Amino acid sequence: MSAPVPDLADHAAACADRLLAAEEVLLASHIDADGLTSAAVAATGLERAGIEFETVFKKQLDAHEIATIAATDYDTVLFTDFGSGQLDDIARHEREGDFTPVIADHHKPAAVPDSQSGSSQTSSGPPETEFHLNPLLFGIDGASELSGAGAAYVLARELGKATTDDPEANTDLAALAVVGAVGDMQASGGELHGANAGIVAEGVAAEVLGEATDLALYGRQTRPLPKLLEYSSDVYIPGISNSQSGAVGFLSDLDVDLKSGGEWRTWVDLTADERQTVASALVRRAIQRGVPAHKIDGLVATTYTLLDEPEGTELRDASEFSTLLNATARYERADVGLAVCLGDRDGALDRARDLLTNHRRNLSEGLRWVQNEGVTREDHVQWFDAGTHIRETIVGIVAGMAVGSDGVDREVPILAFASKNDEETKVSARGTHALVRAGLDLSAVMGEASAAVGGKGGGHDVAAGATIPAGQERAFVECADDIVGEQLG
Ligand code: C5P
Ligand code: C5P
Ligand code: ZN
Repeated sequence: MSAPVPDLADHAAACADRLLAAEEVLLASHIDADGLTSAAVAATGLERAGIEFETVFKKQLDAHEIATIAATDYDTVLFTDFGSGQLDDIARHEREGDFTPVIADHHKPAAVPDSQSGSSQTSSGPPETEFHLNPLLFGIDGASELSGAGAAYVLARELGKATTDDPEANTDLAALAVVGAVGDMQASGGELHGANAGIVAEGVAAEVLGEATDLALYGRQTRPLPKLLEYSSDVYIPGISNSQSGAVGFLSDLDVDLKSGGEWRTWVDLTADERQTVASALVRRAIQRGVPAHKIDGLVATTYTLLDEPEGTELRDASEFSTLLNATARYERADVGLAVCLGDRDGALDRARDLLTNHRRNLSEGLRWVQNEGVTREDHVQWFDAGTHIRETIVGIVAGMAVGSDGVDREVPILAFASKNDEETKVSARGTHALVRAGLDLSAVMGEASAAVGGKGGGHDVAAGATIPAGQERAFVECADDIVGEQLG
């Protein structure tokens, strides 16, 4: 990891030294899978280095939340998985002597708005702060090559090097860093790339991670075989997906024992040969039923297994683990998700599983709502306004799942609105890597269009978000539509 990106590691070493000089640190992180794993990686690094700290989670870091942090007694604040998009506010508090920030993030640094820079477009560069660790500052893509948990991992590695004689100190944390990257959907084309691949290699060397090519369906560890196939909504296979009898019928025709001791087996219960039998038959069926080739390719991908976790649990698989975490923190139970990451496998895991049931139900109801209501098509974007029908903390996930389903075009970005409260509306935007290659930068779209209607936003080129005043949705769509048109024009 340090080899492919030496500058990032050097800078992380300076951040680690600053943390070691602190009396006590406030660790602040984001409420999704990447934010939780970022916090868990950082917390473990701090703990092992003997640094005292307290952890807090924020739904979105805005001026108000930063002021709340500034009002605490902590003079050192470690921000993970956010902070770069709020450099202006953070730097102001630093100048006022409220705290020294250390930031391990992967979001696009916020540009100074037009009105302050005086230029026609956005962007005189963002204000700088010394201990700012962000892959984008080192030529690494923050949307696909390093997540917040990855940035926290680079920092934890340096904390380990600074406080032990072990050059491999803290490489066991690579497993959580990979859960964060997978949770942020950084595994494009079926595998992790760039600096993320370096972290995977360190995790494999530390024997905490296994990497394999396997069936890409969600639920390999925990779902009974028929359910694994029935619920495979990412790759829709006619006659199997969404059909319990179809999935059972398909499996029954194969030379594989489906039950053991009266219970359905799961994918990980199968031998390598049995997996091969099922996977090949599935691909054959998909071809027969005319599933497009690029979808069929998506049936097989690189999987990341957490070798220290018990088999047959959500924790064993990076993808299932990340969904379990989203089910906690996006429902105001970040404490549960963090406890699971830190190894509490009794009470916290049970609680997380209950939350997961609820999260899944909300996702499928949300997706059904979008499919029933449909999206509105503008010249360059499409959008839906879920009002209070979809929780604002998951409307982005639903928007991402809706892309590519019936009536939702993969060729244009999608904007999704959900009500936060009477005064504010949340916006989530999702694009594709193909659109990004054509010039799309949703982070800039969200930043500029929200500023135009009195809100604030940012994120990544391929996925971004904003908060705007309620009632400004239509004006926001018009503005975003123009900006996307310019970017792709
Ligand atoms: O705040 P954070 O960076 O952790 O969130 C990134 C968000 O972007 C996630 O919700 C993730 O699902 C989304 N994303 C996406 N498609 C990508 C990359 C990220 O939808 N290719
Ligand atoms: O909330 P959502 O999943 O749509 O967020 C997508 C990305 O945009 C995340 O990385 C999130 O941190 C970022 N975002 C932001 N500012 C906002 C809202 C979201 O930077 N006001
Ligand atoms: Zn993230």
